[in-house]
Amino acid sequence: MHVDPQALDWRPHPRVSWDVLLGPRDLRRALELDVRHGLGRRPRELPPKYFYDAHGSRLFEQITRLPEYYPTRREREILEARAVEIARRSDADTLVELGSGTSDKTRLLLRALSAAGTLRRFVPFDVDAVTLRGSALRIASEFHSLSVHAVVGDFERHVPLLPRGGRRLIAFLGGTIGNLSPRPRARFLEDIAGQLGPADAFLLGTDLVKDIPRLEAAYNDAQGVTAEFNKNVLSVLNTELNADFDLDQFEHVARYDPRQGWIEMLLRSTVRQTIVVRDLDLRVEFGEGELMRTEISAKFTPSQIDRELEAAGMRTEARWTDRAGDFALTLAVCGTEHGG
Ligand code: SAH
Ligand code: TRP
Repeated sequence: MHVDPQALDWRPHPRVSWDVLLGPRDLRRALELDVRHGLGRRPRELPPKYFYDAHGSRLFEQITRLPEYYPTRREREILEARAVEIARRSDADTLVELGSGTSDKTRLLLRALSAAGTLRRFVPFDVDAVTLRGSALRIASEFHSLSVHAVVGDFERHVPLLPRGGRRLIAFLGGTIGNLSPRPRARFLEDIAGQLGPADAFLLGTDLVKDIPRLEAAYNDAQGVTAEFNKNVLSVLNTELNADFDLDQFEHVARYDPRQGWIEMLLRSTVRQTIVVRDLDLRVEFGEGELMRTEISAKFTPSQIDRELEAAGMRTEARWTDRAGDFALTLAVCGTEHGG
């Protein structure tokens, strides 16, 4: 995301087109506002979408292969068992994927929709232009009659601008919805509901509430990849805003808050220190042991998913979990039970 998406060559493939809803100037402005706001308040907080520069996206990919990080494997298990059924139920000609990243598991859906003979178009949507471009090209070369329309955008802002037409399946996988706090999450779901026509469907991946040690281990891996990922947000601020964070003076902390039902990712300042963010003309004092929140990852119960979808104007049509009951995929459509 820290590359000007316009500067990337997006035409090396005849079946790939793209939209840039988030230009470098928008990104820069959002980063400045978010960092000024987040570092200015107590407790301090940094917004999570800035984890995903090209390096952060690579680290996330490593996270998905860690023994402790079960969500990716569980969601893949569900897709392996259910992609054909999801394809049949949705009958989609367009698969939209929000926060698509490498679109790895998505291939299972693409294959099932291709086999059903309905698929025409794939719309991967991500804030990280570099990763998005790579996966758009790979998928176009793997699926020979597919049009790929990649969108560089922010799913907290640009859902109302998704390409329309046809029968769309809008997928939001990986439990990424849990990274939104309750109010933005409700707004996001309302935006999705506003997008869904009667022929469209929404496929939502959510991590489920489970015993705390397993939840915490998934975000505190033994190899320290999650710690590196968490600290990467500081490197991003160093590069983008000329800040002088010393990554060795911060520790990764991840803990489950059972009252809120979410994992909190934090960085703890190990010493008393002053950080200068030169481009913002900002000096920030950190006390020894002071915590700064970088991300939440909410865990859900099935009834909570139903309630939140319903509050936004959608209705659950089907739900599948893996054998261990760790993760859920929910298929939703617009409207309430009574057709309202
Ligand atoms: N769907 C993949 C990746 C999940 S990681 C999977 O299931 O494994 C979250 C992805 O969402 C990253 O690719 C990140 O770049 C993207 N992302 C995070 N915040 C975003 C935002 N506000 N708008 C668009 N994409 C975002
Ligand atoms: N959406 C992923 C999740 O909440 C993202 C993630 C995995 C993550 N590990 C992380 C985000 C560590 C921040 C820090 O499970």
